[in-house]
Amino acid sequence: MLRLQDAFGRRFTYLRLSVTEACNFRCAYCLPDGYRATPGLPAPLTPAEVRRLAAAFAGLGVEKVRLTGGEPTVRKDLVQLVEAVAGTPGIRKVALTTNGYDLVRLARPLREAGLTALNVSVDSLDPRRFEEVTRRPLLSQVLAGIEAALAEGFAPVKVNAVLLRGLGEAELARFVGWTRDVPISVRFIELMRTGCDQGYYAANHRPVAWVEEALAARGFAAAPRGATDGPAVEYRHPAHAGTVGVIAPTAAHFCEGCNRLRVSSQGALRLCLFGEKDASLRPLLQSDGQGPALAARLAELVGEKPRAHRLSEGRAGLAWNLAGIGG
Ligand code: GTP
Ligand code: 5AD
Ligand code: SF4
Repeated sequence: MLRLQDAFGRRFTYLRLSVTEACNFRCAYCLPDGYRATPGLPAPLTPAEVRRLAAAFAGLGVEKVRLTGGEPTVRKDLVQLVEAVAGTPGIRKVALTTNGYDLVRLARPLREAGLTALNVSVDSLDPRRFEEVTRRPLLSQVLAGIEAALAEGFAPVKVNAVLLRGLGEAELARFVGWTRDVPISVRFIELMRTGCDQGYYAANHRPVAWVEEALAARGFAAAPRGATDGPAVEYRHPAHAGTVGVIAPTAAHFCEGCNRLRVSSQGALRLCLFGEKDASLRPLLQSDGQGPALAARLAELVGEKPRAHRLSEGRAGLAWNLAGIGG
């Protein structure tokens, strides 16, 4: 079987597929002015195009697909997209990253469509701060969505909190307290510098080290990491049902074990989160008969994946925001 492998011997088993650039939140670090459609931007990939894309990646050894955005749940046909991916032979895991806006309604249909894992963004457990960051007064709705997901058997639910300056000891204690009885995996994500808001970055960026120190002081210990684990370093406590972790997206340590590729909502392949160029696959997604040509193109493009991102050399592409590529 032909496999996706790059020049450094890395194999790719995980696809992160953005299904829309649109979002209904206005997170201060991402879409502070709200989403505005780019004039002339074609509609995002259809369920049929997504099915062909998933089939090509699965044929090349991909086993896990994460749907991201923007906010995936703004698509009316999200359940169909999940069905299309989950029904693809070879795909064993289908995950979703969402802001949780519509989970109360969608947790069950998503589960029934074959979704296997959920990551939900919750930047604050204080309703006022939550609204300050996302510009939506919806903390309780998002928390109810997480409960609905847990009730449907999604466990652990991964909870993403971007580490902003306003997130101090008191908030940390609330997040940690939440993991005592609830099977969630909270991950504090270091703010990434993006093109849209460099001033916000300068004012709000805090390294994750203080969280790691605070966790150690509370009796948490780092869980052992496997070579192909995702970017999160997880900490466990014997008395807690859940875990707390940190993600330092710019730390180069996981480039070595990178197992993931990205495709934008328009069907463009991005080789690295901090990638410098995209390659459109959409022309090869128009009929089932194009499968072999698509597979050959993918294998060729993956051969060009860089060894590591080059942020420290100041050479990496700076995404305008993460809504287009989904983190
Ligand atoms: P799983 O391991 O599938 O649960 O995914 P995840 O934890 O990567 O998923 P999620 O969509 O919740 O992403 C959380 C954050 O991880 C993203 O916003 C990024 O900051 C970071 N991240 C994800 N993938 C990469 C990657 O390939 N490189 C880097 N540097 N950071 C990444
Ligand atoms: N820095 C760090 N995390 C970000 N996210 C979006 N933009 C940024 C950024 N600039 C997070 C979202 C979501 C995850 C997929 O990415 O809050 O949890
Ligand atoms: Fe929307 Fe996610 Fe960006 Fe927030 S971080 S504005 S939820 S795409």
